[in-house]
Amino acid sequence: MSAAFGTETVLDVRHWTDDYFSFTTTRDDGFRFDNGQFVMIGLQVPQADGSSKPLLRAYSIASANWEEQLEFFSIKVPDGPLTSRLQHIKPGDTLLIGRKPTGTLLISDLHPGRNLYLLGTGTGFAPWLSIVKDPETYERFERVILCHGVRAAQDLAYRDYILNELPRHEFLGEVISQKLRYYPAVTREPFQFEGNDHRGRMTELMASGRMMEQLGIEALDPEHDRAMVCGSPAMLADFRALLDERGFTAAPRIGTAGQYVFERAFVEK
Ligand code: A2P
Repeated sequence: MSAAFGTETVLDVRHWTDDYFSFTTTRDDGFRFDNGQFVMIGLQVPQADGSSKPLLRAYSIASANWEEQLEFFSIKVPDGPLTSRLQHIKPGDTLLIGRKPTGTLLISDLHPGRNLYLLGTGTGFAPWLSIVKDPETYERFERVILCHGVRAAQDLAYRDYILNELPRHEFLGEVISQKLRYYPAVTREPFQFEGNDHRGRMTELMASGRMMEQLGIEALDPEHDRAMVCGSPAMLADFRALLDERGFTAAPRIGTAGQYVFERAFVEK
């Protein structure tokens, strides 16, 4: 095996639906990352000749960098080279994890601001799980709007955790209760949340202003608001167009701040 990867042990696996699962692993003491980054993870796959070959894909880290375990949130692609296998992992199995996390979804690449929108569809929600557990997020922004766009209500993985567990978190509970707002959106069936109609694509909900009205917050404003976007290439293109039209500028590169950052969710697995 290449020294570019370490091995970690699977601790826990959770199957949310037929399409989504998440899992935690051990974390090497030397493995450091910034919240919002992704890393290559994978499995040794046996070959016909009896040897084995590493098969790796990029995954956003869904745990925060102060947590002892690593967490990942994955789609299950029936004929996906990696996820067709990965979805069968069990506690005690070993996984390959790259040693070089990277990525553009860094709060340090956003100018400080009022409302931080975390816009994710499908597994594009994963990096926000790390970012909402970062105390610095709440130092830099007055309000954090955690948005998850999915096809059906059952796809809203982590919903109960966000609504019921995070606000009671030992260290972060208080600031999370004050500053974190959860905004789920469901496209393919009727869906009500907190007495409001949350059916629709997040792009439409944001562009029409319905999202802000329902949240009871200020209209979108590039001077004060910031966004992080993670989803399919089409979702990124649509959100980028929406934000650009409203005068937001994307951070041009890692290390140079802007009014929004974006990254493609790594879905073809
Ligand atoms: P839709 O049901 O209208 O396709 P997927 O399951 O394909 O990963 O999609 C996750 C969610 O992202 C779905 O609710 C889907 O809506 C939505 N979505 C897909 N494309 C876009 C886009 N270009 N902009 C905003 N949301 C999108």
